[in-house]
Amino acid sequence: MVPDAIEEAVSKITVSVGRERYRVLIGEGLLKQLGKHVRKYLSRKTCAIIADDEVAQLFARRVERNLISTGFHPTLITIPAGEKSKTLTQAGAICDQMIGAGLDRQSFVVGIGGGVIGDISGFVAAIYQRGIPHVQIPGVNTRDGKNLIGAVHHPSLVIDDTDVLKTLPRREFNQAFAEIIKHAVIADAKMFRTLKVARAFWPAAAGETHALQSLIKRNIEIKSKIVAKDERDQTGQRALLNFGHTVGHAIERAGDYRKFLHGEALSLGIVAAGAISIKRAGLSPDQREAIVDLLRQFELPTRLPKNFQREKIFSALKFDKKFKGGKVRFVVTR
Ligand SMILES: NC(=O)c1ccc[n+]([C@@H]2O[C@H](COP(=O)([O-])OP(=O)(O)OC[C@H]3O[C@@H](n4cnc5c(N)ncnc54)[C@H](O)[C@@H]3O)[C@@H](O)[C@H]2O)c1
Repeated sequence: MVPDAIEEAVSKITVSVGRERYRVLIGEGLLKQLGKHVRKYLSRKTCAIIADDEVAQLFARRVERNLISTGFHPTLITIPAGEKSKTLTQAGAICDQMIGAGLDRQSFVVGIGGGVIGDISGFVAAIYQRGIPHVQIPGVNTRDGKNLIGAVHHPSLVIDDTDVLKTLPRREFNQAFAEIIKHAVIADAKMFRTLKVARAFWPAAAGETHALQSLIKRNIEIKSKIVAKDERDQTGQRALLNFGHTVGHAIERAGDYRKFLHGEALSLGIVAAGAISIKRAGLSPDQREAIVDLLRQFELPTRLPKNFQREKIFSALKFDKKFKGGKVRFVVTR
């Protein structure tokens, strides 16, 4: 697609959270124009590109070449792919490599990858030299539970190139739909109906990613609207985004972050939250069934394997960040 056509086909969203505002660009082929877009928002030269080793093989060289061709001085830092990399030790190791590369307060961070890279590269940007510009919201794991240590550090720019979804393994692609179905349940019945009839989201099948582009745009709008109301997770508004995550995170932990991907554990968590919502919020069994059917439609798990140790889920629940006064708290919907 020629540069001007790429420009026109780009969806632009401005996210405002507290005093912060940043731009999100969504569209095909944006990585080819990365440097040009970054240049508009950041007048800095040196940067760290942080990617996991799987994504680095696919995109890092192209990104590096593009940034160099637009006058930036990037240093590529790769970490092993997967949840196990979201640790303080890994964040520290990345900072050491950035110091070794001579990056300073005038530098910035580019995180390329999934949620793990988004979180750890954002955390590094939040702590390096007391904070430098970045592109996503961070979090790290401690021995006991998920996302218990973190920082709120808003990005300067988010670039969502839908082309990169074409290389995503089907299981990884499907797991993202747990968060999308969660957004539909908590905030958008119309999107719920759209998803029910959707057949063409799988890029390899659709061959193009326009349908995905508007879906991504809608989901960023939903999340940023909720985050804008409760940036620091204090009024309970933002907790809505945790629908399905109480049991979801506990199952992810009980499976040692290996058995289930984040979205697969979340799918099971949404099934549980649906059952609790019938009991505690008057959700109709039909609507709960509709949610379960939609999760199945996107090939997401809705039943625990027979041999899965259920008692490990209960012991993991107390590590949930909503746990208060010895009580497990669930987000429910009527
Ligand atoms: N900060 C937040 O608001 C927030 C929200 C949701 C989830 N998360 C976090 O995100 C993490 C889960 O993210 P994830 O599911 O993306 O996991 P991930 O980052 O580990 O990515 C999953 C796998 O997909 C590969 N991959 C990523 N992009 C690819 C591409 N374009 N092509 C081919 N392969 C690609 C990665 O190399 C990795 O092997 C969890 O740690 C969760 O806590 C954070």
